[in-house]
Amino acid sequence: MRFDGRRFEVLSAVRASQDTTHRPYGGVVPELATRDHVRLLPAVARRTLEDARLSLPVVDVVAATRGPGLAVALMVGHTFGKCVAAVMDKPFLGVNHLHGHLISPFIFHSADYWDGRDCVCLLVSGGHTMLVFLGKQGIPRVLGTTRDDAAGEAFDKAARLLGLPYPGGPAISRAAQQGDPVRFDFPRPMLSEPGLDFSFSGLKTAVRVQTESLLRQGAQLDDVRLVSDLAASVQAAIVDTLVEKSRRALVQTGARVLTLAGGVAANASLRAGLERMCEELGAEFLPVRPDLSTDNAVMIAAAAGWQFLRGRRSGLEEEIHPQPDGADDWLT
Ligand code: KG4
Ligand code: ZN
Repeated sequence: MRFDGRRFEVLSAVRASQDTTHRPYGGVVPELATRDHVRLLPAVARRTLEDARLSLPVVDVVAATRGPGLAVALMVGHTFGKCVAAVMDKPFLGVNHLHGHLISPFIFHSADYWDGRDCVCLLVSGGHTMLVFLGKQGIPRVLGTTRDDAAGEAFDKAARLLGLPYPGGPAISRAAQQGDPVRFDFPRPMLSEPGLDFSFSGLKTAVRVQTESLLRQGAQLDDVRLVSDLAASVQAAIVDTLVEKSRRALVQTGARVLTLAGGVAANASLRAGLERMCEELGAEFLPVRPDLSTDNAVMIAAAAGWQFLRGRRSGLEEEIHPQPDGADDWLT
């Protein structure tokens, strides 16, 4: 990543997916994730430099994610980054995962998009569901967050109940394409309450109760029609909730830009719903590019560039932060 303070330039982006490793288990297995990180990271780092036609001596700063996330996986990447920085005598930056997501919608736009404009960001991933206000200096303030499950978690858990493969979000959105979103009336959590917080655990329970009742009546989960209708109805409940809360956040803050980030941002129905809502409000909709929605190194490099130019450095003694920090810590 090259960053001059006004514009990001992605020089190379290499990704090693572990989805096939974890799929048979229906979720991430920490030991296997650690083993794959150790096995794959050196080669991925080398390929990234080769693709960018760069060698380490010309690099200004080495960065890695410091958290929040799976501790064992963070440990591998963070330690690797610190070792490279130490050996090459380069500064090191440990970056907050959420700052990476927050900055991701801006990567292919110039600074005009984030300098001097108030934005609201809907950040929806497997671990987080947040509405964040980004003031003119890019300083984040959390407006609302989930009280229990994250939106991605709701997709993943619903997918498991419907017998769909891991990762659940893409599987639900694929199945939903052929489905009827109004066949099952799942709850739109928290819409009757005024604030900007979310809660998705009730939705998961509703999906379980509905599915168990259908199975008792003799239905089968290999009934493609039924699973598609259930998937479409779950997706509609999640999307409606996210769109309505985002609308309220725009109205309350007066911001004229809505950005969308995090793994769930890949969901086409969510993107379409938010786009429509923004059009109605006369606001601009700025979603992350779908290939940069799920976790990736490009967004971490962008966040690192942003912080580096503002003078931030982490010491080599910095430790990982697996638990979520408050937004105050995102940029420090
Ligand atoms: O940001 P991310 O890669 O990891 C975390 O930081 O958690 O987000 C992963 C989440 C998973 O829950 C996955 O099911 C969800 O993003 N996801 C989707 C889609 N693609 C990924 N959810 C709904 N629709 C999708 N197309
Ligand atoms: Zn993430």
